[in-house]
Amino acid sequence: MQDKYLGLTPPMGWNSWNTFTWNINEALIRETADAMVSSGLKDAGYQYVVIDDCWSLKQRDQNGCLVADPEKFPNGMKAVADYVHSKGLKFGMYSCDGTHTCAGYPGSFEHEFQDAETFASWGVDYLKYDNCYKPRHMEGEMLYKRMSLALRNCGRDILFSACNWGADGVHGWIQGSGAQLFRSTGDIQDNWESIKNLALSQMDKMAYSGPYCHNDIDMLVVGMHGGSNNEFIGTLGGCTDEEYRTHFSLWAIMNSPLMIGCDIRSMSSITRETLTNPDIIAINQDMECRGPYVVPGNDPAAMMSLVKPMGDGSLAIGMFNLGDKKGELSLQFWDMGIPAAAGMGLELYDCWARKTEGVFDQRYAAQIEPHGCRMFRAKLVKVR
Ligand code: GLA
Repeated sequence: MQDKYLGLTPPMGWNSWNTFTWNINEALIRETADAMVSSGLKDAGYQYVVIDDCWSLKQRDQNGCLVADPEKFPNGMKAVADYVHSKGLKFGMYSCDGTHTCAGYPGSFEHEFQDAETFASWGVDYLKYDNCYKPRHMEGEMLYKRMSLALRNCGRDILFSACNWGADGVHGWIQGSGAQLFRSTGDIQDNWESIKNLALSQMDKMAYSGPYCHNDIDMLVVGMHGGSNNEFIGTLGGCTDEEYRTHFSLWAIMNSPLMIGCDIRSMSSITRETLTNPDIIAINQDMECRGPYVVPGNDPAAMMSLVKPMGDGSLAIGMFNLGDKKGELSLQFWDMGIPAAAGMGLELYDCWARKTEGVFDQRYAAQIEPHGCRMFRAKLVKVR
């Protein structure tokens, strides 16, 4: 039944949580689906419109089924899904492995198979599955296996986005559960420190991520500029456009799903350009999904290059300055498997400037602004 290509590359879409948290309704989802198409995000590859927590009533019905809150979703969830589908997009929802969701709505514990059927009947294509209110005696691993099996047998292709924040050594067992995504971090906040810490926390876990099962370092805050409904997410009040560009570059080259968290109905043209850069998206969507390796700079906690082998033989290279001082980052081609004796160099295409930087022999060095980056697609060429 299941489409064998479900989740081959990291999913791309939008999720309601970062900006709207509990303040969600049918009009917002419809307008967001409209904006996804009219802004060009859909053409750039964004596909899923996902409703996060706070969509249901606080009680199940007399048959034990989840019920959409009729004040927020007066026409029911099927109507919302139908609208999203009518735009050529896919529809996602949210539940939790415990008795309650993180915001206190009913969770799917001991209702896994029933809820999977409900989601299928509404036309859901993606389920984010959280880890709050998990009964103490239950292992998280077991609960993710349960919901994964329930979804794989509910009669509809539903991508399974497991969200246990990296608990229980999830990278070690998630592949076997059947989930297509695993959240490996706590919740992102709309500030630079949070972006930096989430990325650094997973740089040694890239080898666990691959086709059909991707390490999810949380949703994007690109373009939020402090505009969250939620104080925790909005702490410190947002980032600069350059910081958002570095954030997007990190998530792309680390093969994280690209789930937009800003209000796309009113995003700036700079935000739209960041989110739709085709060369950065191509790095994220390479079908081999190989995790990047790290080439440390002189100050390894702040400066590093991430290098990802691409399916066409080229390399994606991200040079990052996560620190607070401008600095030089130098990349020796030896560290990427190109000895001088090979007579090969790299032709670098700059993915943000969108032009060729030149052909380089043995090394490339760049001055990088604090919280900045350079992103290249590098082709091996003969230089001698
Ligand atoms: C957890 C998740 C978040 C979000 C909220 C909703 O904190 O990690 O991404 O889904 O729950 O309550």
